[in-house]
Formats: sequence, C-alpha cells, structure tokens
Amino acid sequence: MSTNPIPIIAIDGTSSSGKGTIAYKLAEYFGYNYLNAGALYRLSAYTALANNVNLSHKEALIQIASDLRPHFKGKQIIINGKDVWPIISTQEYGNHASVISPIKELREALFYAQRKMIASPGLVAEGRDMCTHVFTDAKVKLYLDADVTVRAERRLIDEERKKTGKTLEMIEKELELRDHRDMTRDLGRLYPADDACIIDTGNKTIDEVLKECVEWCEAQGIVGGC
Ligand code: DC
Repeated sequence: MSTNPIPIIAIDGTSSSGKGTIAYKLAEYFGYNYLNAGALYRLSAYTALANNVNLSHKEALIQIASDLRPHFKGKQIIINGKDVWPIISTQEYGNHASVISPIKELREALFYAQRKMIASPGLVAEGRDMCTHVFTDAKVKLYLDADVTVRAERRLIDEERKKTGKTLEMIEKELELRDHRDMTRDLGRLYPADDACIIDTGNKTIDEVLKECVEWCEAQGIVGGC
C-alpha cells in the first residue's frame, strides 16, 4: 500500500514496553496528533462496566464501541466532562481491554474510529495492530519490546505508588498472560510488521529510546521536529 499523504508514525509493541510514553513524546516533538488505540479498548470495557454490562455480552460491547465518542485532550480522555484516563490506565482495565479485544465487530467499529484520527500535520498512533492492520499506509513503522522482567520492574514502580500490593512475580505473570492473549488471537494480533524498525527498550532510558526513534523517523523523511 502507498503511504498516506498525511504522515503517520505507527507504533506497535508489548504491554509496558514504553510505547505509550515514546509515542506521546514523538507526537510532541513533531507537533503531530496522538492516538492511544489501547485507550479505545479500555474505554469500551469501562463504558460497559459503568452501565452494568457484562464483558461477555458481545452484542452490547459492539454497540458500545460503535457509539464511543471520546474527546482526546493530550493524554486525557474526556467523557461527560471528566478525564477517565486515571481510571482506565490501570492494569485491571488493560486486562479487561485485552479480554474483549478479540471480538471482530468491536475491532471493526474501532478501526473506523482510529482512521478518523488521521489529520494534518500528522499522526502518531500506538497500539497492537497499528502497523499491521489499521495504518498499513504509515510512513514510519516501529515495534517496541523489552524483556518481560524489565517491563514488570517498570510496572512495579507504578503499582508501588498506587499501593496495590502486587509483587514483581505477580506483575510478570499478568504481563505474560496479556502478551500471550494479544499475540495469539485471530484478529489484530501483535507481531512486528515486515517493514517495522524493531527497538529493544530494555536497559535504555526514555531519552535514549526517543533519540533512536526520532533519528529513524527523520531518516524516513519525517520533518518538523523541534
Ligand atoms: O496498549 P494498552 O496496554 O493500553 O492496550 C490494552 C489492551 O487493548 C491490549 O492488551 C489489547 C487491546 N488492544 C488491541 O487489541 N489492539 C490495539 N491496537 C491496542 C490495544
């Protein structure tokens, strides 16, 4: 597929690989719009539970995903005037999102919501199937990953701050389970696109990873960085 006239930087990667942070910083650096695709899956689960809909109720979930009208404001996701990101960014909602994400019609509804985010001067989109399905016309494709223990250690800092009582082993197990689910489902499974630049974020600082990504984007012709 030829590349979109509006430059898109598509990023896929495993949970806690740092793709969210890097995607947001890249969007700031190039002055592009930002899409956190996982947030749409998380939001679908949140809306269902907030309305007493069981996550096994497929038809209701598809309707919820079709009706989603999130308002993105930077990292914030505003629903009825309230930023719900602090609630849906938890590991619990990550797991809920992963559980409902294999539903074909739900993915289709969210596909259109994601494509609608393409806008000038460009878009940085992060998720699991950004490079391989939703934005195959991206100018730049990146795949971020790190060893599961390194990712669990990063997550532990968050969990300790929130005093959840989770141990490193518990977090590692959760991540492994989520990776497995995300990598083995039939639709939109996580894998590196053939033309993606694969970046190992383990044992690197955020600034080091960002520098590597910026250099790669610029080498692919992305301009406008500050
Ligand atoms: O990126 P994240 O951790 O916020 O994603 C949460 C879950 O949402 C992820 O485990 C699977 C699902 N997801 C997906 O199926 N496809 C995407 N492109 C992004 C997320």
